[in-house]
Amino acid sequence: MALLITNGRIVTARDDYTADIYCAGETITRIEALIDPASLPAETHVIDAAGRFVFPGFIDPHVHVYLPFMGTYAKDDWASVSRAALVGGTTTLIEMICPGKADQPLEAYELWQSKAEGVAACDYAFHMGVTRWDDEAQRQLREIVDRGTTSFKVFLAYKDALGVDDRELYHTLKLASELGVIVTAHCENETLVAELQRELVAAGKTGPEWHEPSRPPQVEAEGVNHLMSFAELTGAAVYAVHTSCEPAIRAAERARQRGVRVYVEAVIPHFVLDKTYAEQAGFEGAKYVMSPPLRDASHQACLWDALRNGSINTVGTDHAPFDFQTQKTMGRPPGSDFTAIPNGIPSVENRVDLLYTHGVRTGRIDLHRFVDAASTQPARIFGLSGKGTIAVGADADLVIYNGEHRGTISAATHQMATDYSAFEGWEIAGRAETVTVRGRVMVRDGVFCGEPGRGRAVSRHAAH
Ligand code: URP
Ligand code: ZN
Ligand code: ZN
Repeated sequence: MALLITNGRIVTARDDYTADIYCAGETITRIEALIDPASLPAETHVIDAAGRFVFPGFIDPHVHVYLPFMGTYAKDDWASVSRAALVGGTTTLIEMICPGKADQPLEAYELWQSKAEGVAACDYAFHMGVTRWDDEAQRQLREIVDRGTTSFKVFLAYKDALGVDDRELYHTLKLASELGVIVTAHCENETLVAELQRELVAAGKTGPEWHEPSRPPQVEAEGVNHLMSFAELTGAAVYAVHTSCEPAIRAAERARQRGVRVYVEAVIPHFVLDKTYAEQAGFEGAKYVMSPPLRDASHQACLWDALRNGSINTVGTDHAPFDFQTQKTMGRPPGSDFTAIPNGIPSVENRVDLLYTHGVRTGRIDLHRFVDAASTQPARIFGLSGKGTIAVGADADLVIYNGEHRGTISAATHQMATDYSAFEGWEIAGRAETVTVRGRVMVRDGVFCGEPGRGRAVSRHAAH
């Protein structure tokens, strides 16, 4: 059905103006100061957006949905994660495919795709995880790029599980450079983490509060420096995911200054939560165990500054949902320790509202940077044609946002499948009221009204 959105304040990474938007089918076909409804088909659905922002659909460049990890599986499936994303204003998700080291890349690729296909309500794409390197893996990775998945993912962390060694890293970057695709990387020195974990546990330091000391900022900065050296040598474009602290950001900035093609992502938990959350008594801190860990609050000013000045390119979530009662408890002492707590914080539903509330409303970033970091840059960096902006010819992925709404986050009302929220009771100062995916209304009055399976796999171009 055709859709007309009238009187909205359209905000993109560059522009801010009031106009009407007309979508015939899946794309935006007209943007004019005033569109006469008489010029449109009689069945056109009209939404009055007076007093509201109209943003391009937000894009989360880093989520985990199907994730076999640390002896369990992440809690969401594509039905719940896409519903949560849409209610939170996110219309496209990019999921990390994380095969085991023994798995064949193509089999993993097809398995991960099969989980989303026919189930996802929002659009989606993948980063292809590389966990092994041999001739056959290389052949299959080339085929995966040919099929439109134009980014790789490597872990420099998670020793003996998902992590790559230097040989695997070097060859992955060389292939990426040849194909013009980008390599996203989790940067933490896995050997240092393993040794620090061993020492802490041996000293009886077993609770979730010891997770951060087992992966201090130096460990992350070393990982970023390591990636930068390899990127410089191979000429590959790289993207440091979930950068959490000042030394890691500075390492990327220094490399950028000497010509390394590096993009930096930060994720919403690191902007608004600090390590004191993981230090809460009674194992409550386990809810806040993710990697890299929540940091000392002193790192947050650097994150906001770097976001404001564009040194941080994107804001994602690293949504990795595990239940508190049955999954986080796998690492509960006595009998277990923090190294067995499944890493991850669920936040796909909350990213846009938290960034608006704690970034825009506080004046730390302006509306353009907000849209740029959470929509436009993910689209550009990852080659999502037609997404990340509001323009004639673009996909009609639109978010009508009420910046005056006041609400409270709670697990009792969220769409994510987890039994807890890391932001329980937090007030938010904005809400996605209406959300469309390629012209179809999927959220009305803040409530999901779409159908599972409406989401489409987005084929991407090699942008590097
Ligand atoms: O704690 C995290 N980040 N869990 C998900 C896996 C990863 O490292 O991205
Ligand atoms: Zn990671
Ligand atoms: Zn991740």
